Amino acid sequence: MDDEGRASVLCHPSSVCKVKLANKVALITGGNRGIGLATAKLFVAEGARVAISGRNENVGLAALQELVRQTTTRDAIFLQGNVTRQHDCEQIVNETVRAFGRLDILFNNAGIILRNRNVETTTEEEWDTTLETNLKSVFLMSRAALPHLRAAGGGTIVNTSSYVGLVGFKGLAAYAASKGAIVNLTRAMALDHAHENIRVNCICPGSVETDMIHSAWRAYGDVEAAARVWASKHPMNRIASPEEIARVVLFLASDDSSFITGTAIPVDGGITAG
Ligand SMILES: NC(=O)c1ccc[n+]([C@@H]2O[C@H](COP(=O)([O-])OP(=O)(O)OC[C@H]3O[C@@H](n4cnc5c(N)ncnc54)[C@H](OP(=O)(O)O)[C@@H]3O)[C@@H](O)[C@H]2O)c1
Repeated sequence: MDDEGRASVLCHPSSVCKVKLANKVALITGGNRGIGLATAKLFVAEGARVAISGRNENVGLAALQELVRQTTTRDAIFLQGNVTRQHDCEQIVNETVRAFGRLDILFNNAGIILRNRNVETTTEEEWDTTLETNLKSVFLMSRAALPHLRAAGGGTIVNTSSYVGLVGFKGLAAYAASKGAIVNLTRAMALDHAHENIRVNCICPGSVETDMIHSAWRAYGDVEAAARVWASKHPMNRIASPEEIARVVLFLASDDSSFITGTAIPVDGGITAG
């Protein structure tokens, strides 16, 4: 702790570090709420310097304030940008490196969902927006980040897929296509970059209590009934907290998973086990 009571995040190479991300710099898309913000808090607690990004500046700055207040870190920034745009992705990556001097971890987590649409009822614009936000963003962000991960001597990329990337789901045509593609893009990238000490994995969450699920519950009409219906889809009869997902992201981002690459890990309370 320093004289203002802040936790020190730097760890001398010769000392024994208890935190898992000492001296690491992480960039988290969709970091201004939900799974991304929970992960940012955990990463900071584990010693990382963190950049969070999202489109909404007000939400982003409020998230940054919350992050700083809860963790007392000085080493966090918010970067506004739209991950469907190449220019924004490059700027987000470059600003992170400018602020912290390096990049070790990229968490490609930004995403949207379009419910109750099959192929016939999805417009071309809805299809493009879903695929660009969920899938093309992984390509654009990773392409911008890879030279910096390489320059750091290696690194990790974690992509957010979904259990709907592993199995089909009625009424989620565009979302399922985007999340399934993330699983296979993860495998392809893992093979392409394994020799550079860059590991690439993805998580496949079941339902998680974030804005994304709350909006689905509101659309259902009766929020309490919806919560029960969503819980009952999972063998564990509940949905996840964002923190439960963040702990798996930490595992994949840290040396705890040093021999794991190209995997898609279900974090779904058993939903894809059947
Ligand atoms: N919640 C679940 O049940 C669940 C289950 C499986 C997988 N997932 C996946 O988990 C990830 C995070 O979801 P969440 O539940 O935390 O949802 P959320 O609370 O709705 O957060 C979505 C995040 O993505 C950002 N985002 C969306 N479109 C963007 C764009 N074009 N450019 C930049 N940022 C963008 C949002 O920020 P702005 O709006 O400010 O841009 C926000 O930070 C998503 O990929 C989602 O598909 C969620």
